[in-house]
Amino acid sequence: MSSSSTPVAGASLAARLGLTAPIIQAPMAGTSTPALAAAVSNAGGLGSLGLGAMNAAAAQTAIEQTRALTSRPFGVNVFCHAPAQADANAESAWLRYLAPVFERHGVTAPAALKEIYTSYVVDADMQALLLREKPAVVSFHFGLPAVEHIQALRAAGILLMATATNLDEARRIEAAGIDAIVAQGIEAGGHRGFFDPRAHDEQLGTLALVRLLVKQTGLPVVAAGGIMDGAGIVAVQALGAQLAQLGTAFVTCPESAADAAYRQNLLGHEQVSTAHTRAISGRAARGVRNQLMALGIAADAPPAPDYPIAYDAGKALHAAAKARGEHGYGAHWAGQAAALSRALPAAELVAALQAERKATIQALTAA
Ligand SMILES: Cc1cc2nc3c(=O)[nH]c(=O)nc-3n(C[C@H](O)[C@H](O)[C@H](O)COP(=O)(O)O)c2cc1C
Repeated sequence: MSSSSTPVAGASLAARLGLTAPIIQAPMAGTSTPALAAAVSNAGGLGSLGLGAMNAAAAQTAIEQTRALTSRPFGVNVFCHAPAQADANAESAWLRYLAPVFERHGVTAPAALKEIYTSYVVDADMQALLLREKPAVVSFHFGLPAVEHIQALRAAGILLMATATNLDEARRIEAAGIDAIVAQGIEAGGHRGFFDPRAHDEQLGTLALVRLLVKQTGLPVVAAGGIMDGAGIVAVQALGAQLAQLGTAFVTCPESAADAAYRQNLLGHEQVSTAHTRAISGRAARGVRNQLMALGIAADAPPAPDYPIAYDAGKALHAAAKARGEHGYGAHWAGQAAALSRALPAAELVAALQAERKATIQALTAA
């Protein structure tokens, strides 16, 4: 659904978006689907599409498919990283390092690597598409596009959000005219939205980050990272977050694009061990610990190439291994509380989260 009017400043995000559940299903490039986003929006939350790894044509199809399944608002998300810096020497060294592993899985390592998708900051087709399609929400990860473009999206009536992992990023988001900040703690699954991967990362947890941004910025805050149930949502609401953005919790919904091995990694375990790695894509991201991560931290490992050039190698290695039934090289992104995953259809998960939220509030009130 296009947003039909300019959002009312001052109203809560839930009121501006007509949400009945304070829940955003995180955009998850490669894992969220039109069916997942629509199911969450139809259940009263905000469903989201991760467009970061798509070109404009694929994004248009995903938006159209979502609109065919819901008339309610949903969000789309794009990646605003600095375009990749190719470095032929670093890429060759990385491929030489991985070559024996490719060979063990019956294929030759690629001869060269490429930037497998384009940053939104230089993708004029994607920018034109979003201005044309006017999704209710557009969110930015890894940074921000140019201020003129932000102003054009706002003038089109689109509500804008951007990920911050620290106060400095949050202040830049506020100064750029964005409507809300997604406070992403270190617990979060998937890529860390850190603006400058070469800068010092304070690695703030969700609890500390949400509270800091609620107290020290004037924007509504959406909490993300390690939230898997209604109690977690109440916790971040108590800190002042207006909405909770859950990624990992939705990976195991039948509507997601996760494959069977990814689901098995998350479901039915008392513990799921996760770690941050650059080895899979070239940027820090949290996922289930696996063999590609181990290769990335081995003593003789060269640095992984720039994001998303390294992802070209990671995806090729995963495809080769998966074809032989080996799933230890996949990007099974997951947050620190992944062991709390459940395999519910998205509408049932939203209903369960709401029931747990109410039960938690009642228990706290009675205490
Ligand atoms: C599989 C997966 C893919 C993700 N892809 C994106 C993405 O495309 N864009 C984005 O802004 N965040 C992405 N994230 C991060 C989420 O927005 C959010 O910060 C995170 O899921 C919150 O932590 P949780 O997984 O513990 O709920 C992804 C997370 C996961 C688990």
